[in-house]
Amino acid sequence: MQNPFYCLFLFLLLFVGVAWTEEGECRRLNRADIEGRLSTKTPYRAIANYDETPPKFAGCHPTRIWYIIRHGTRNPSEAVILQAQNRLSEIKKRILDQPKPPICSAELKRLRQWSWKHLNASEDEKLLVAEGEDELIELAERMQKRFPDLFPELYSPEWYYLKYTATQRTRKSAASFATGLFGRNRIHTVRYPPPLHEDPVLRFYKGCGKWKTDVDKNPETLVNARRFLAEPQMQSAVEQIRSSTRLPDLQPADVQLMYTVCAFETAWHRPRGGSGSRSSSHSVWCNFFDVAALEALEFFEDLEYYWNDGYGYELTHRIACPAIADMFAAISSSEEERRANATLYFTHSGTLLKLLAHLGLARDKKPLTHKHFASERRWRTSQIDAFATNLAFLRYDCDKEEPQVLVLHQERVVRLPGCPQDKDLCPLATLRRLYAKSVDHCNVEELCRVKAN
Ligand SMILES: *[C@@H]1O[C@H](CO)[C@@H](O)[C@H](O)[C@H]1NC(C)=O
Ligand SMILES: *[C@@H]1O[C@H](CO)[C@@H](O)[C@H](O)[C@H]1NC(C)=O
Repeated sequence: MQNPFYCLFLFLLLFVGVAWTEEGECRRLNRADIEGRLSTKTPYRAIANYDETPPKFAGCHPTRIWYIIRHGTRNPSEAVILQAQNRLSEIKKRILDQPKPPICSAELKRLRQWSWKHLNASEDEKLLVAEGEDELIELAERMQKRFPDLFPELYSPEWYYLKYTATQRTRKSAASFATGLFGRNRIHTVRYPPPLHEDPVLRFYKGCGKWKTDVDKNPETLVNARRFLAEPQMQSAVEQIRSSTRLPDLQPADVQLMYTVCAFETAWHRPRGGSGSRSSSHSVWCNFFDVAALEALEFFEDLEYYWNDGYGYELTHRIACPAIADMFAAISSSEEERRANATLYFTHSGTLLKLLAHLGLARDKKPLTHKHFASERRWRTSQIDAFATNLAFLRYDCDKEEPQVLVLHQERVVRLPGCPQDKDLCPLATLRRLYAKSVDHCNVEELCRVKAN
């Protein structure tokens, strides 16, 4: 009786074949083209380092780590959810109302089914999603494989100090990282200090009045991003979306909304099953973009973050000094004053970007402006500020040398400006000297004072 099975087999073959060609015709971009261009909504899997080989330095071994990590993939803000439920639903309707909608039938079906009704804008905003948990679990597992001595599988408060800010997304990120280290059944023993909304170390900018008035709430900050809207690259991106949707009146804000929704939906769903990079995007909204358009939208975001949270204004990165001071305290305090061997912080994009700028990482020679789309640049938020972005300082104690420091960004070794550029380890004393000015004169109260006038 193999006949029915044979028929089923043939049917499946046919079915798969149709699906493949269908997908082949539909697909404008593949996963890889999209995933790495989503700015701060880039899923960590697009940039993770899957090489778990432990770095080896003869005669030296790691004894402490200070590790600061952005929360993983989350839901959008309330404002974005509402815009998706309202404006984007309207755009969807206008695409579907066309006599012959400009997309293939498989995508048409997905567009018909698209909605964000499952999200409650006020309750679900910014919550960590399942993909975000996986990002942190897997990051912890890779770090533990690389540095088994630094990350023992048994939790103890003498060894580990974990802290998060007063938000669900960082709390769950911490719990997920702990799950990766200790296993699901043992995370209940982990002790956390009381979380703060304006943590002076984990979120130093929240309480900084001067940064808020001079940078964050200053309309000047977004001038370059705004000017880029009028540049030819952004204009052709908008034109491209107008043509692929056949909606000639779409505005830049509509295109940005489509990009944001494409980004979140792509980040939420990693490709499952064997098709790998062949699988098309999970977000129907990505299909309206070509690579050039994605890159223009990405550059707009790079400009925004450069000026709001990066190199744009000196004050923005100077106020990261409490975190740098805390790092030195964690890795260089004496045995008696030692808080823990592993300090793990779970925080936000705004903290990571300001820290990178304080350290001189991803720095371009000239300030980034709306004219620099076509120039090479190191400031790429998709690479330096994806979900679960992480920065580690590891102390190494050596047989014959003074203590050294290894710095990892996104699980890869980086050599800080001022440290030896021909080797990976930087002497702790050198590093401390480099940051003497920022650490010894870290007067946040004065830096952040808003002058009344
Ligand atoms: C933990 O840190 C202390 C203080 O620096 C150090 O003496 C000790 O060797 C570290 N433990 C391990 C196993 O590396
Ligand atoms: C969303 O949640 C809030 C608070 O629980 C509730 O009052 C509201 O009705 C919900 N909105 C929708 C659309 O379900």
